[in-house]
Amino acid sequence: MSIRLPFFRKKRKKLERIKHENTPEHIAIIMDGNGRWAKKKGLPRIAGHKEGMTVVQKIVRSAVKYDIKILTLFAFSTENWKRPKPEVDFLMRLPKEFLHIYLPEMIENNVRIDTIGDFDSLPPHTRKAIIHAKEQTKDNDGLLLNFAFNYGGRYDIMCAMKEIVRDVDEGKLTIDSVDEESFATYLNTKNIEDPDLLIRTSGEQRLSNFLLWQLAYTELLFTDVLWPDYNEELFGNAITEYQNRKRRYGGV
Ligand code: IPE
Ligand code: IPE
Ligand code: MG
Repeated sequence: MSIRLPFFRKKRKKLERIKHENTPEHIAIIMDGNGRWAKKKGLPRIAGHKEGMTVVQKIVRSAVKYDIKILTLFAFSTENWKRPKPEVDFLMRLPKEFLHIYLPEMIENNVRIDTIGDFDSLPPHTRKAIIHAKEQTKDNDGLLLNFAFNYGGRYDIMCAMKEIVRDVDEGKLTIDSVDEESFATYLNTKNIEDPDLLIRTSGEQRLSNFLLWQLAYTELLFTDVLWPDYNEELFGNAITEYQNRKRRYGGV
């Protein structure tokens, strides 16, 4: 017992460093750099994806501790199908593997799992694992863990536009009633607020077709750290950095 106490004290101190005011409610992350992490170690790219999966769970735990409301993780883009088939196949199996290991902990931590993106084009085995997780966590009201899986910002906006045209055609909507607020209700993110903070790992400073509409006034934070090396401390630092920024939304 006397050996374990200092460990707990140290942990608590780390958490207390985060102020509770002005915490971002919705954090979005472009988890990038898995391939380069693996290459640096002389491993196949998929080893980077596997390691990245363990980091996802660490960051989910942190988000729960910091009382973040929504965590949206970019896990597979509509452009990632361009990758070699064995890599794509591996990425399509990852949700099942991830959920097999971590779903019980998610349930215990009151986490609700959801996805955005083109769900219907996913392989049946991937859909099945995700549907099961959504079903098992649907009544949870803690952290919303939102995976952007087969997601593209342009795809999202284009689908919204098509649906609006359809509703206008069917007389359910008039063109003049469409404004920014109603447009947003046609997006994949219709039930959630825009991200307050976007983090991208791996040193790339671009959006790569992530939440194009939703990131209009999001605070952006880029770090050189590769996703498999990302950790709770860096995540805590990112929250602190957000808390020190001043958002103006075009005002003063
Ligand atoms: C991000 O890591 C994970 C996915 C896009 C699925 P990458 O696989 O893009 O890794 P890098 O950017 O090639 O290092
Ligand atoms: C963005 O990373 C997609 C995900 C992290 C899932 P990419 O690695 O696909 O982006 P680019 O190709 O470097 O722009
Ligand atoms: Mg990449």
